[in-house]
Amino acid sequence: MTGSALPADLDDTTVTDAAVASFQDTPDPRLRACLSILVEHLHAAVREMELTLTEWEEAVDFLTATGQKCDDTRQEFVLLSDVLGISSLVENINHRMSPGATEATVLGPFHMTGSPHRELGDSIDDMGRYEPCLVTGRVVSVDGTPLAGASVDVWQADPDGYYDVQRPDVVPPGNGRGLFTTDDEGRFWFTTVVPSHYPIPTDGPVGGLLTATARHPYRPAHIHFIATANGHTPVTTHIFVADSPYLDSDAVFAVKRSLVRDFGRVDDPDTAARHGLPHPFVHADIDLVLEPARREELA
Ligand code: BEZ
Ligand code: FE
Repeated sequence: MTGSALPADLDDTTVTDAAVASFQDTPDPRLRACLSILVEHLHAAVREMELTLTEWEEAVDFLTATGQKCDDTRQEFVLLSDVLGISSLVENINHRMSPGATEATVLGPFHMTGSPHRELGDSIDDMGRYEPCLVTGRVVSVDGTPLAGASVDVWQADPDGYYDVQRPDVVPPGNGRGLFTTDDEGRFWFTTVVPSHYPIPTDGPVGGLLTATARHPYRPAHIHFIATANGHTPVTTHIFVADSPYLDSDAVFAVKRSLVRDFGRVDDPDTAARHGLPHPFVHADIDLVLEPARREELA
């Protein structure tokens, strides 16, 4: 036989090096590094599992179904990332905050970019079906300076465990949501209802994965916040209701102890009257502590 000699056949050990080497001319060094690491780890996993062809086909079918479940309002791949703990891991890697700054946690799929603007003291519960509660807090910098004019975007499930977008026939859009601006002392306050724990969406492949692995789909009760202030790194976080079920087994691994708050009963008739609340009333408080922006964020 003439012509150039064929290289030795690749086997189940040498194919990994060949696949990694295939990226060596990738112009973007970050893409090259990430793909090389990914291929190495995927190959190691397949080797360790001794994956069968049938299992490989099942995996391809699962990922195909995950993609097919996605549309403008449903992101099944993000949900998959959530239940595998990857979203939480990415959050943790990217928000190594200074001590004292509010810890970040996952955004989740129910954030809407157009939360209704509300005045300080307004209720974000448009339904009035359940006992109201008061949420108060301040947006401050890590050195304690109050951040006036900061924006606080809030969204939550109701006591039945649903976000507005999940029951458009029952509640108006914007129920359980509000966009507030802090006062001169960095304060914000609003009334709402105590949220319930709730299941993440289970009518897709991710729900099937949870069932197949005997995992429950629940998240502990929480209220989401995004606080944004000039010259500071925004924080996306939650407060968790202290006595909620599933605090120790969140389906998406997003609980941080520093974010758990008592929604306790307060015996203070004057404050109750000021906020139009029954007496005694339920109250939770959170200071959202932001880090000054790093130089590259300001550029
Ligand atoms: C949420 O808290 O809204 C959420 C987060 C991750 C997956 C599903 C829901
Ligand atoms: Fe949520």
